[in-house]
Amino acid sequence: MIKFPSNFFWGAATSAYQVEGGNRNSDWWPWEKETGKVCSGEACRHYELYEQDFDLAKSLGHNAHRLSVEWSRVEPEEGQFSSKELEHYINVILALKKRGIEPVVTLHHFTNPIWFSRSGGWEDRRSVARFLRYCDYVVRALSPHVRYWITINEPTIFFSHAYLFGFWPPQARSFWRARAVHDNLIAAHVEVYRRIHRIYKAAGLLRPAVSLSQHVSAVVACRPDVRNNIAARLRDYWYNVELLDAVMRQKSMDFIGLNYYSRNLVDVTSWRMSSLMMETCQKGHHPVKRNSLGWDIYPEGLYQVLLKLKRYDLPVMITENGICTSDDNLRWEFLSGHLKNIHLAMGAGVKVTGYLYWSLLDNFEWDKGFTPRFGLINVDYATYQRTARPSAAQFARVSTTGVLE
Ligand code: FCB
Repeated sequence: MIKFPSNFFWGAATSAYQVEGGNRNSDWWPWEKETGKVCSGEACRHYELYEQDFDLAKSLGHNAHRLSVEWSRVEPEEGQFSSKELEHYINVILALKKRGIEPVVTLHHFTNPIWFSRSGGWEDRRSVARFLRYCDYVVRALSPHVRYWITINEPTIFFSHAYLFGFWPPQARSFWRARAVHDNLIAAHVEVYRRIHRIYKAAGLLRPAVSLSQHVSAVVACRPDVRNNIAARLRDYWYNVELLDAVMRQKSMDFIGLNYYSRNLVDVTSWRMSSLMMETCQKGHHPVKRNSLGWDIYPEGLYQVLLKLKRYDLPVMITENGICTSDDNLRWEFLSGHLKNIHLAMGAGVKVTGYLYWSLLDNFEWDKGFTPRFGLINVDYATYQRTARPSAAQFARVSTTGVLE
């Protein structure tokens, strides 16, 4: 039997674009139409159905919930803010509070307003001031109700997928463009961190807890030869550590928001930079179970990652961890396996304050569309009917008692 502290945060995470539907002013919307790859459309209709979804979250024993504000709703045209949309997010936050659920609010989760992308996006240094202006508007309005803020979700995934590997809009494939975005995201985070603190201080509010959500994978060398070891070190630094170190140097983290999903099994066949940075074992060595997108299930990696984060000496909140699968037993195996490793890491001195499963609902998984099913709750996309899966009930037993059998 494993016991978690009584003040532990238990819940799930979502992001606006993935669940709300109808985000026409976001840069993903025209990109979907142009490429014809995927179509977010009505998503889960969470924009209208949030009360129902939060009722479910409450009935499943959640006491925390991570959501994001869609920038393109709040500022559909440059400098023109929508008080109606702001009101919507205030209502969303109040709906959580009414149910005794602590909101964890993300200000940027991969999507940008169309106007922002068309006027240089994150490559342009003006992005920092633009993002800050939007955050200022939102934070002033939500600050009386929110304590936990995530400025930017997975900056490393964002700049690498959108500017280096060319998977996501604007589909750039350029080291230097990605580098510019990387620098601007860091600057934006630091500015917003300071602004949030200033707003709370001026209003005499309790000190907020501000972070970003960092995606960290467990980088493991398949065969520990020299080349694989070097590649593993490079990758760990490049994808996991560099950005965190940069924001830590600027003392702009009150806790660490950690998103953990999988293992990166390094096996490289050449000294080329692309191999060193990306090539993974394709030979089925060290086999483990996988999710429906083919990502390795590797719960012990979460323990390893948490111990590495110990050197920052900050509390850690797991802001995402989850599995897409059609096998709900595997979901519970995944979830309980990761919880055990969190508990182990806590025993080894890492201060973990909460666990937010990705995701509350099945949703729009970016360039993969609606096929991957990450939800604790099944969504029928024909009727928008929600049905909690058995794993959600198993998780509820842990979240309500703090005990994992
Ligand atoms: C993370 C993203 C989240 C979701 C999960 C599966 O990288 O933050 O939006 O897509 O992966």
